[in-house]
Formats: sequence, structure tokens, C-alpha cells
Amino acid sequence: MEYIHRFSHRINFARPSPIRTIVSKIATLSKTRKIISFAAGEPDPDILPRDLYASLLSDILKEEKLSANYSPTEGIPELRKAIAKFMREFENVNAEEDEILVTIGGSQAIDLLGRLFLDPGDYVIVENPSYVNTIVDWEFYGARLIGVNLEKDGLDLGELEMKVKEARNEARKVKLVYVIPTGNNPAGVSMSEEKRKHLLEIASRYDLLVVEDAAYNHLVYEGSYKPLSHYDREGRVIYVGSFSKIFGTGLRIGWIRASKDLVEVIKTIKGPSDMCAPVPLQYLVERLLSKGFYETIRKKAIENYRVKRDIMLKAIGEYLRDTDYTKPSSGMFVLIKLPSNIDSEVFSQRLLEEYSVAVIPAKSFYIGDSGRNVIRLNFTMVDADEIEDGIKKIGVCLRDMLGKK
Ligand SMILES: Cc1ncc(COP(=O)(O)O)c(C=O)c1O
Repeated sequence: MEYIHRFSHRINFARPSPIRTIVSKIATLSKTRKIISFAAGEPDPDILPRDLYASLLSDILKEEKLSANYSPTEGIPELRKAIAKFMREFENVNAEEDEILVTIGGSQAIDLLGRLFLDPGDYVIVENPSYVNTIVDWEFYGARLIGVNLEKDGLDLGELEMKVKEARNEARKVKLVYVIPTGNNPAGVSMSEEKRKHLLEIASRYDLLVVEDAAYNHLVYEGSYKPLSHYDREGRVIYVGSFSKIFGTGLRIGWIRASKDLVEVIKTIKGPSDMCAPVPLQYLVERLLSKGFYETIRKKAIENYRVKRDIMLKAIGEYLRDTDYTKPSSGMFVLIKLPSNIDSEVFSQRLLEEYSVAVIPAKSFYIGDSGRNVIRLNFTMVDADEIEDGIKKIGVCLRDMLGKK
């Protein structure tokens, strides 16, 4: 059967997510040999309280008569209420229940926003680098991406304003500005408070809609940040939340916080595609929140990840001393810039095959060519006692490729 000529035009914009491609390759290789993986962007499974989840789920399925039925598309009322409260308490954002739409992870929230706002040929401004799955997803809707350089304290706002003006002058429609203000994936950079306020001033001046991806908002190892939405007085910020990075990526519960009217529209396009997010897991997250487990799980995660980050940075300082690398104060990743003559895809391939170490070539997180020699390393999911060995092997592979002893 020949399928290709039957595909929609949209499929021409599709490309596989490089993360999923590498992660499935690692899963296959892991069956036959030990891999040290810095590839994933996930919590450490050893600190997730699965026994607690099992016991809560067992209670839920016994006690909640409708827990194995559809829920409203926008989520069970208990969870919407709990998320609104969570946003008031943990995010300093004045959210109400009817401003919350429960989604299947932040991923679905991002996809729904792409479906709602983007026509082929529309422009989206993103931090450079930015989260590759959003790039891939929105390109699928035909969006064209404009990258704005990420500085140590967040987006280069001078460049942002220049690019917005340029787009205006050329009558290009900038539909969305997408930012990960805290713990950017892949760079681990967080935007300063001053820049958060300034970004909203620019958004107001040029009438821009901003999507705030808050996936890493509570994985902050030094300092603290209020979300962009906290400073928003004009309804310009659509907040995308996720419980993946604290409760576990497999629970697949995220949300959108937007105006009540916008939530109604998004609900309309969401319903026919999924009916609702998995209902037992909606109840589970609601119970975890209302019983105060968010903070206990998060605290444990922060302690664990901070230690691993420090081991990783120390090892990089020792074994990859000649490279440039980020020192993240938030998020899950370190970016390493390899010498300019090294292609990160070739490097990552060789590292995996010959040294059994997995990293993500970061090229596809960048708009343009600047990330060709950059790799992304995750420090949260790997075992602490494997980190030094893994970094040492990256150093050996690099010297090997550079022809040095
Ligand atoms: C920046 C960012 N946004 C959103 C997501 C999506 O996560 P989920 O769909 O598990 O909530 C991720 C996952 O890696 C991410 O890094």
C-alpha cells in the first residue's frame, strides 16, 4: 500500500523530534549494554514516590465512582480548583478555576496553542536556543521561527525589539512570543526580574501575545523567580504548566492558564481530539496537591539535583576544561560548546556507539546554525556515581576526535 501521496500538505512541515529519536535508540542499545545516559529531561525515578502514587490511585479508583469515566474536557473541577490554588500559592498568580484547562502534559498545551493561533507562514519569536519539541510542533503548523539570543539573564530584549520592528516593517505577522523564563531547556538560563517586566512592556508596546512555558519553574537551585504571568496586567501571557518535572513525566498532567474566554475556545478544539486527560491521573495530581506532597517531592528533587549538577560541573571543569559550558542555576541541563570544528551530531553518535555515553546534540534547539557544535547534558536522571565516569568518557571521545592523545 502506498500512503505518501495520500498525506495532507501539512506533513511536509513535519520532522521527527530529535530527542525521542535518540531516547528510543538508547532504549534499544541498553538491552545489550550499559549506557550512561545524559540524554533525557526527566526526574530521577528513584526519588518519585511510586508507592504513594499506587496507594492514592487505589483509593481513587475505589472511592471516586467516575474515575474510570470521561471527565469534562477542561478537567475535573477538583483539579482545576487545586491548580488555581497552586498558582496563587506557589506562583503568585491570581488564577481562578475557570482560567485553568487541564491538558495531557505541557506538550498538549503547546500543541493546542499552535493549533489555535498559527497559520502557515505566521511568525513566532523564540529564545535561541529553545525547547525543540515546541519548535518542531509549531513548524508542523507552518510557523516560521525567529530566534532571539539568550543572554545569561534571559532574552536579549534589544534584539527582540529590533526583530519585532523588522518583522513589522516587512509586514510579517508575529503571532506568538514563546519563552521559558525559568530554567530554559536546553540552556538552564533564567530571566531576571527586570527583564520579565521589560519584556511585558515591549509586548504591550507592540501588541504581542506571549506564551510562558513554566515546565521548570520550581527547579531553581539558587535564587527565586516569579513567573512572567505574575507581572502581566493585560492578559498578554498564556501560561503553560506541567507537573512532569516534579511528579513524573509519565503522569502526563499539565495545564493552560489563560482568560476564561480563551479557555472556552481551547476547550472546543481539545474535546474532539482527546475527550479529556486521563481521569485517574487527574485525581491523583489533585490529591498530591491537596495533601501537600508537591513541596515535599520538590524539596527532595532540588536537593538531589543540586548535588548531581555540582558533580557534573566539577567533572566538566576537570575533563573538559577547554570547552565553554553553562553553569545552570535552574532546570535540568548543562550545555557544552565543543570546538567549532566538531559536529555535535557526529560526536554524539560516536560517543554513544564507542563509549556507551548518550548526550543530545543541541543543534535542533537553535534557530540558524549557531548550535552546530553544542551538546546538551541532563544531570537529573543519571545516577550520581556515573556522572564523573560519563564526563571523563566525553573528554576521551573529544580528544580522540580532535586527534589528540
Ligand atoms: C520546556 C518544556 N516544555 C514542555 C515540556 C513538556 O513536558 P510535558 O508534556 O511532560 O509536560 C518539556 C519537556 O521536556 C519541556 O522541557
